[in-house]
Amino acid sequence: SSVSIPPPRCLLGPLEAPLRYMFGPGPSNVPPRILAAGGRPIIGHMHEEMFEIMDDIKQGIQYAFQTQNNMTIAASGSGHTAMECALFNCVEPGEPVLVAINGIWGERVAEIARRIGADVKTLVKTPGGYFTNEEIEQALAKHKPVLFFLTHGESSAGLVHPMDGIGDLCRKHNCLFLVDSVASLGGASLFMDKQNIDILYTGSQKALNGPPGTAPVSFNDRVHVVNYPVVSKSELLGCWGGYHHTGPVSGFFALRESLAILAEMGLENSWKLHKEVAEYLHEGLEGLGLKLFVQDKNLRLPCVTTIAIPVGYNWREITQYVMKHHRMEITGGLGPSVGMVLRVGLMGYNCSKTNADKVLVALGDALKHCHKSKV
Ligand code: GLV
Repeated sequence: SSVSIPPPRCLLGPLEAPLRYMFGPGPSNVPPRILAAGGRPIIGHMHEEMFEIMDDIKQGIQYAFQTQNNMTIAASGSGHTAMECALFNCVEPGEPVLVAINGIWGERVAEIARRIGADVKTLVKTPGGYFTNEEIEQALAKHKPVLFFLTHGESSAGLVHPMDGIGDLCRKHNCLFLVDSVASLGGASLFMDKQNIDILYTGSQKALNGPPGTAPVSFNDRVHVVNYPVVSKSELLGCWGGYHHTGPVSGFFALRESLAILAEMGLENSWKLHKEVAEYLHEGLEGLGLKLFVQDKNLRLPCVTTIAIPVGYNWREITQYVMKHHRMEITGGLGPSVGMVLRVGLMGYNCSKTNADKVLVALGDALKHCHKSKV
């Protein structure tokens, strides 16, 4: 019984993972301290020290989310995993769910909720749009959903959604408030408890600067109150306090360090830095003759800047040019914003005026060298 499938040739060569400026919407560059934490020798997922590390992570997430929720964990997986985890634990087949869609993340939530069998209602704006509290309240009153979903930082559109008062409206209409903060956490102010957010999640790879693969998520006690007891939620708690699956030990080491850096810096300082650097970048982009996609300055997501594709240019040519000549990732749009925008993300460790200057040089260079069609 000899093997008939030979070892793949590609694996007989070395791993190629070049250094790049990760100035797109994520993942961001991971600072050496976090890389080193993730590279530490493995310990068991059930060892005493691991439980301490998980408790540190829990407290770090409570700080980053500004919540006292006990049910605060890091899911093993991407931001998408946390999104699914939230939906599967809060929505039952047949239940009405209201999803605000102003970019890709609402679209995705609506799709998952439909697959769960929920009765999905949507509030829709084109990318760059946002929802007034009046529009939200009208829809809550009309559809009487068990859950309302909103994206705080819409990375496909570069929009940070106003949050004040929406949680109160959800309480008034007896509905859970689920918020996606994957692309905003640490970069734009958010207060889970004060803003009456019932379920909040994020990812490790944006302003937290961790490697992708762990996803902070928190549920408050209303998740029990509004819905009937949820079995998989206790399973989740089980995985955080006992054995459910073998968690991503290295990813948790790295996440602990990401959260430690945020704790040392302070949330307010981090929010302020992201705003300052974003404004500096925005001025520089306008100086290159580029137009920002989100007009209202207060609605611009500091973590991910969207630029209207300059007239006459092919966005792919621009992103390929900066990758080839500047070893820099910036990206095009995502989902409904494809063909509308270029996206630049300067998050956490990457968030500095020096890096903004690098982006401006690279984009300025691309505008000179990329083919411009006559319009
Ligand atoms: C997220 O992964 C994004 O590209 O916005």
